[in-house]
Amino acid sequence: MASDLAAHNRAHFNQVASTYDKDLEEGLMSLTKAIIARRDWIGVDWNGPVKVLDYACGTGIISRALAPYATELIGVDISEEMVAQYNAHAGALGSDAAKMSAILGNLTDRDSPPLEQFADARYFNFDVIIVGMALHHMDDPTYALTRLGQRLKKGGVLFVIDNQSRHYPGEEDFHRLAGADVVKTVRHTGFTEGDLRVIFEEAGVNGNFDHVLLEEPIVIRPRGMKVELKLFFARGERV
Ligand SMILES: C[S@@+](CC[C@H](N)C(=O)[O-])C[C@H]1O[C@@H](n2cnc3c(N)ncnc32)[C@H](O)[C@@H]1O
Repeated sequence: MASDLAAHNRAHFNQVASTYDKDLEEGLMSLTKAIIARRDWIGVDWNGPVKVLDYACGTGIISRALAPYATELIGVDISEEMVAQYNAHAGALGSDAAKMSAILGNLTDRDSPPLEQFADARYFNFDVIIVGMALHHMDDPTYALTRLGQRLKKGGVLFVIDNQSRHYPGEEDFHRLAGADVVKTVRHTGFTEGDLRVIFEEAGVNGNFDHVLLEEPIVIRPRGMKVELKLFFARGERV
């Protein structure tokens, strides 16, 4: 049975999937540039074959940033409309399904075990697993990264992009600006470096852990209001 949180996420992201890229265009462009600029920092040998799991992939903005450098990209998302958007973009890039495709699934929720198809070898032995702008939507980040980490090859990299924890109590969480339905999709407002060190360690993906704060804020405009997201990148290897 899907949890309430999973159901809220599925419903919300199904609703916004077709306008997601357009609504967040400015921010997603900056995020793409930041990922490409830190490609070497992720710590994968991009000259060899690189198999990527883009977990909670959405429309595939992160996969598209890394597609020129990766051998195979698999997206997984809880929203079928997001999966459809991802696959439409992959098709538009001219990628065949063997190189880049997404599938509906939930691999990180205690209440809904992954579908049997995720037991297939195709869904293991990743060089890098990315969780972009999605850990704050998950009930138990340690459980989520533990489950995902088990799908990495030994020494493979878990790469998380998410919101920095807020420094000032009065600082507004942008999800509140976006409305009550959006608030129901989140569990965490952000993570500190200290939070992440503990989560990565408990999940067994803390080899050569590193964390950077992005200097440039990522601008989004929920309901026309300008919001500057402060993001971090964190990475660790399966030990
Ligand atoms: C803010 S979007 C980020 C999408 C994409 N990673 C990006 O950076 O644009 C959050 C995504 O997480 C997905 N999601 C939320 N909870 C999930 C879960 N438990 N498992 C898989 N996907 C989930 C949502 O459907 C949505 O596509």
